[in-house]
Amino acid sequence: MRKPIIAGNWKMNKLLSDAKGFVADVKNNVPSSDSVDAIICAPYPFLYELVKETEGTDLKVAAQNMHYEESGAYTGEVSPAVLKDLGVTHVVLGHSERREMFNETDETVNKKAHAAFNYGLLPIVCVGETLEQREANQTMDLVAAQVKKALDGLTEAQVKETVIAYEPIWAIGTGKTATSEQANEVCTHVRKTVAEAVSADAADAVRIQYGGSVKPANIDELLQQSDIDGALVGGASLEADSFLKLVEAGK
Ligand code: G3H
Repeated sequence: MRKPIIAGNWKMNKLLSDAKGFVADVKNNVPSSDSVDAIICAPYPFLYELVKETEGTDLKVAAQNMHYEESGAYTGEVSPAVLKDLGVTHVVLGHSERREMFNETDETVNKKAHAAFNYGLLPIVCVGETLEQREANQTMDLVAAQVKKALDGLTEAQVKETVIAYEPIWAIGTGKTATSEQANEVCTHVRKTVAEAVSADAADAVRIQYGGSVKPANIDELLQQSDIDGALVGGASLEADSFLKLVEAGK
């Protein structure tokens, strides 16, 4: 049985005071991490404070990106060593917004996945197609290629600990959720790709999230699908009540 994983990706939202208020409201109300992983992916400047605030609770804190180098002349970047030192547990890699606006490529996502494991961080690797690619029937090939390239060279044990977030770009922030069948079809394909590229055991263990306009009203149906193990949630993770409902659904 794969443990559900619900991650709230705040993106570039909130001020530190709002973030601390959210965490104060949520941290003692999330279900036990024995039943579901509850994670907040916060902007870099909040991470230190939020990790401190959540110590000893079942709420985990993730970064939304990182560089793959340990240190050096990379102005404006944050290293995996720093994230680990701060106490961050997970890191989102290759979100479509970073691929589209900040030149993230399959190659950099792969380097970052290796760097994450080298520093004891767990990667949440995002994949997904544009509307144009879906309409051209390229979804399955594109997503399989993104998955293979992201995981290239990782050990089987590392792949088992990786989280893959399938996010159709056309469903992000648009209110257009993929139907649960559409979402599951691609998540099943992701699992099959992992089986072919790595092993059946790795495919069985890897957790696959769906992301794209997930909210309390549709999460139950999505989580009932055979290959959807959780959700990566943007807009609906910004309010404490809504985030708690999403996490409860994962329990
Ligand atoms: O990382 C989260 C996704 O981009 C989904 O965002 O829930 O606002 O559609 P959304």
